[in-house]
Amino acid sequence: MLSLKNLLATLACAGLVAAQSSSQFCDSASGICFQGYTDPEMDVTMGFVFPPVTTPPSNEFIIQLIAPITNGYTGISLGGQMANSLLFTLWPYDNEIILGPRWTSGYVLPEPYPGPETTLLPSSGINSTHIKATFRCQNCTVWEAGSMGSGDLTSFTVIAYVVATTTEPSDPADVASVIQEHDDFNFFGLDLSQCSTLVDVDSTQFIIDINLEHLGSTLVDIDSTQLIVGTNLEHLDC
Ligand code: HEM
Repeated sequence: MLSLKNLLATLACAGLVAAQSSSQFCDSASGICFQGYTDPEMDVTMGFVFPPVTTPPSNEFIIQLIAPITNGYTGISLGGQMANSLLFTLWPYDNEIILGPRWTSGYVLPEPYPGPETTLLPSSGINSTHIKATFRCQNCTVWEAGSMGSGDLTSFTVIAYVVATTTEPSDPADVASVIQEHDDFNFFGLDLSQCSTLVDVDSTQFIIDINLEHLGSTLVDIDSTQLIVGTNLEHLDC
């Protein structure tokens, strides 16, 4: 039987569910442009930016996840389903961002999953309405029983997301807290071939930890206004 995930992938490839397919948006706080999707009902925004595809492929990328602070937790599944996927849970606690990888083989509490390394980037934060995690995700393309884009980082893939609006983690200070089942979930199609990224065109090194902006022909770190020298940087847009 065709699963919902496969059906969505098939339809989106055929251009029939454009509303649930990714498009580009740029985060003004970081200057980073993502491929992603905003769910208008759950008020959840998800974005991805990848380094250029290389051989062997890089195992990292940047994810942005924005959700209402009123959610008990918000989750994202990089495998497009709950089981055998790299999952992340996100919630605020005491003005801190509590974010961590989880994994499960079935419809039971996903446990913290060792391996992926997350680093919150400067545009992350919590305001009076939303929590925003912009994070570098290293060792995130392959996980137990699955991989991003089923191993093809130029493919069309399905990302799933969940919200728990009525229950909170039992110990919200702890990223490994017990959580209850979410009360809503949905999916969108992410076209990995359409990701926009800032690359060093000489070394194809991925530039991720600085806020870069073009000022005329010069590339500037907008946090420190430090000039980036010795590199040949370029935007690779969609
Ligand atoms: C105790 C915690 C959890 C329980 C008991 C649970 C249980 C379930 C159940 C029973 C379903 C099927 C619902 C349906 O078909 O109507 C489901 C779907 C789903 N869950 Fe969870 N879940 C939990 C936590 C999570 C977390 C933390 C994530 C992601 C970070 C997640 C991701 C998903 C996704 C993406 C789906 C829809 C796709 C699919 O059926 O695989 N779940 N979950």
